Amino acid sequence: MKFRLPSLLKAMLAICSASASLYAQDAAKLAAEVFGSNCASCHDAGPDSRGPNRATLRQMSPEQIFTALDKGAMARQASQLATAEKRLLAEYLAEKKFSSLPPSPIPATAYCGDSVGPFQNSLAGPAWNGWGVTGSNSRFQDAAGAGLSADSVPRLKLKWAFGFPGESTASSQPVVVGGRLYVGSVAGNVYSLDAGTGCIHWMFEAKAGVRGAVTIGKGPGGELAVFFGDLETNVYAVNARTGKQLWQVRVDDHPITRVTGSPTLYEGTLYVPIASREESQPGNPKYECCTARGGIAAVDARTGKQRWKTYTIAEAPHPIGKNPEGTQMYGPAGGGIWSSPTVDPKLKRIYAGTGNNYSQPVARTTDAIVAFDMKTGKILWARQSTAGDVWNGSCLARSQNHANCPVLDAPDFDYGSSPVLVNLPGGRRMLVAGQKSGVAHGFDPDAEGKVIWDQPLGHGGFDEGVIWGPAADNEKMYVALDTAAGHEAKQGGGIWALDLLTGRRIWGTPAPSCGDRKPCNPSQTAAVSVIPGVVFSGSNDGHMRGYSTADGKIIWDFDTVREFSTVNGVAAKGGSMSGGGAAIAGGMVFTNSGYSHHGGVIPGNVLLAFGVE
Ligand code: HEC
Repeated sequence: MKFRLPSLLKAMLAICSASASLYAQDAAKLAAEVFGSNCASCHDAGPDSRGPNRATLRQMSPEQIFTALDKGAMARQASQLATAEKRLLAEYLAEKKFSSLPPSPIPATAYCGDSVGPFQNSLAGPAWNGWGVTGSNSRFQDAAGAGLSADSVPRLKLKWAFGFPGESTASSQPVVVGGRLYVGSVAGNVYSLDAGTGCIHWMFEAKAGVRGAVTIGKGPGGELAVFFGDLETNVYAVNARTGKQLWQVRVDDHPITRVTGSPTLYEGTLYVPIASREESQPGNPKYECCTARGGIAAVDARTGKQRWKTYTIAEAPHPIGKNPEGTQMYGPAGGGIWSSPTVDPKLKRIYAGTGNNYSQPVARTTDAIVAFDMKTGKILWARQSTAGDVWNGSCLARSQNHANCPVLDAPDFDYGSSPVLVNLPGGRRMLVAGQKSGVAHGFDPDAEGKVIWDQPLGHGGFDEGVIWGPAADNEKMYVALDTAAGHEAKQGGGIWALDLLTGRRIWGTPAPSCGDRKPCNPSQTAAVSVIPGVVFSGSNDGHMRGYSTADGKIIWDFDTVREFSTVNGVAAKGGSMSGGGAAIAGGMVFTNSGYSHHGGVIPGNVLLAFGVE
């Protein structure tokens, strides 16, 4: 490991002995250097920045940037930086000074104490559990669970707001079970809140960020447990009543694999999706690309013991020659599973959507829907939608000489979202999915995934197409789209309703324009959610909208881009909406707001709860 500390200390000492204005000048120079050598390769301006670009970083506070570097999404990228360097960078990028106050501590009054009822040790009652309500990942909440009719949705009003201290992205999907809400955060805190009031029951500190939804089910000892994965591939079981850890295991030993999707719980086994951060690393021509493979780990929910693990690419990575800069290359790699696996109880199968290859040789299981045997993990079939998609961060236009880029015009058409299993009237079943190509697909789960239909909806691309996923009731599939890039996109986005059996378009509603708002981007990347009569879709412009499932008319629209006074006393504002979508249960709608990267242009740190007056 290379430590840069002595030279930094020398520089800091030299600076400290100089005058105040010289200090400011030299500090900025030093920060620019640290940024140039540690961050610029991924964060420099340009619409193809996957991390927040300079304009987005400028919208954050120094506290938010520091949190990302110290314990959030960038903790590993900044692990070689001293605290002083992180502070310097934070002020330099935010173009603001740290506030003299400690970063929004949560006051003791934010905790529930005895003010709310006892813990309900049962899954009964209105619930939005896990990513998709059920293992089918339809993201459909029935009338009894929703407690909200299409007529009452236009009357939804904000009930309470909760702020995530120091964070700049709030995208983990909330989960509601037994009147309590459970939500993770990118800084690695998992909270249990009272769904009615937002007071805190407990907070659990994971070792790294928690981006997926948690899943609630029976834990060891019979009490309910909360299951989730983090950005260092750790998987946890925590007692749902007390917030105490029951077990923790790491499901992959590659240094930069991560869990971004939600584990799916079925009959005592957790199916944990594995992806990796490796895709952006090869932008550095010295990075030995690539060795991380996606997969699923099946873990015993009582003990954390692994039952099986299957990589999406069977062949282990091996040396495949040198890049033009003389750096050793490896492959095959890639095939990350970014989303929650889907359960087929009838055929005892697990389905997942996979991402692209990072390096050669090409695999036939990438950009595909893959079926795994539930008991053994064996891959039973894979339907690849895009062949030869060998892409990584070295293929971006601004990348230095594309030294690590395997296929310059590869499109980066992952399946980033979960396939949805639906039962149609008459006993027929369909497996439907949306891809970053901008195409929705229908497969027959009872005929080895035979392709039934393809429906192109708009152009796809590296941060475009269908991102976090569709929803479906038992008639239609609802697909939102990201077709706009940058901070001032005028058009893009939109949502479509498709006939499940044929893929035929029933209606389509374009995204309303951003008007004069800056920055703004109307694309719709967040996961879609549906209740009888209403489909909910969050947008990068910060609006959460409810659409009539009958004709796509917008019947409710809430603009989250503003400051909120929060029940936990933390300064909070809303921003772009991406990642998890709305969770609807017990007459309320819950959503996170704030997204700084992968197409998100407005940072934010708020969880919002809506109910009818
Ligand atoms: C290899 C590419 C890469 C490097 C190097 C890198 N980042 Fe990032 N950064 C990303 C990506 C991609 C994201 C989006 C979050 C994610 O994917 O986890 C991100 C997210 C962020 C965020 C937002 C976090 C949030 O929760 O909203 C900040 C702030 C940030 N980076 C700052 C930095 C700084 C400062 C450095 C240099 C010390 C740095 N990054 C180095 C790729 C990189």
